[in-house]
Formats: sequence, C-alpha cells, structure tokens
Amino acid sequence: VEETYIMVKPDGVQRGLVGEIISRFEKKGFKLTGLKLFQCPKDLAEEHYKDHKGKPFFPKLIGYITSGPVVCMAWEGIGVVASARKLIGATNPLNAEPGTLRGDLAVQTGRNIVHGSDSPENGKREIGKI
Ligand code: GTP
Ligand code: MG
Repeated sequence: VEETYIMVKPDGVQRGLVGEIISRFEKKGFKLTGLKLFQCPKDLAEEHYKDHKGKPFFPKLIGYITSGPVVCMAWEGIGVVASARKLIGATNPLNAEPGTLRGDLAVQTGRNIVHGSDSPENGKREIGKI
C-alpha cells in the first residue's frame, strides 16, 4: 500500500498545530502508521533536502528545519502521496488555496509548517531514514 512521509516543521510544532494537521489527514481517511517527535540533526536535514543544495535559500532552510523539534509521521492509503500534497497546498502559503493547511495556517515559504513527500519512492525513502 502507498505510504508518505509527513513532517510537521518546527514552526508548526511551536505554534501548536500538530493536532490540527493530524486531524486533517485522519478526517480525509488516511491511516497513521508511525509518529515521533524528533530533533533533526543538520546532516539528516541536508540529506532530506539534498535536491535544493546550492540554492540561495538552502542554508536558511537547514537552519529552519533544525531550529526545534519536528513531528515525523508515516501515513498510508490509496493515493496518499498526491492527496497529502493537495491537503498541504502550494509551497508559498500565499499561493496555497484556502482549505489547505498552508492556505489556512501559514504566510511565508520559509515557515510553511509541514512537509509531504513528492513521490511514492521518496515517501518510502524518507520514512526509512527516521
Ligand atoms: P516540502 O514539502 O518541505 O519539500 O515543500 P515543497 O515540496 O512544497 O517545496 P520544495 O521541495 O520545492 O521546497 C522545500 C522547502 O524549502 C519549502 O517547503 C520551503 O520551506 C523551502 N523553500 C523553497 N523555496 C524557498 C524560497 O524561495 N525561500 C525560502 N526561504 N525557502 C524556500
Ligand atoms: Mg518538496
């Protein structure tokens, strides 16, 4: 069955949005199969976002993700990877539709509260690192 890695980023944890984020995925009908509170070390953050290495925002992104605890989750269900990305919304919260997590709960790309895997392969890979 398809699975995806969802991570509540440090700002989402600090702002008390973990319950609401979990609730959206539960209500949609997906199944939570793993969860942990985790302080992401720098090397793992760099590995997680390796596709963005060299971009001007990369150092900021690593500083953000390692700035406090994150909540790491595995979710499974039919079409969960693409569906979770829709529930999360566009990368820039100002472009994210109302009704999405980022559309409703965030304003800055650099503080966009939650991550979702972009392919089933990356879902399995990212879950395997945690
Ligand atoms: P993730 O689920 O976190 O992977 O987000 P995404 O798939 O919607 O976006 P992408 O993988 O392209 O970028 C990863 C993360 O890098 C984003 O979620 C942002 O937190 C950050 N990011 C991307 N572009 C920018 C940018 O232009 N400026 C800043 N400050 N951060 C950015
Ligand atoms: Mg991404």
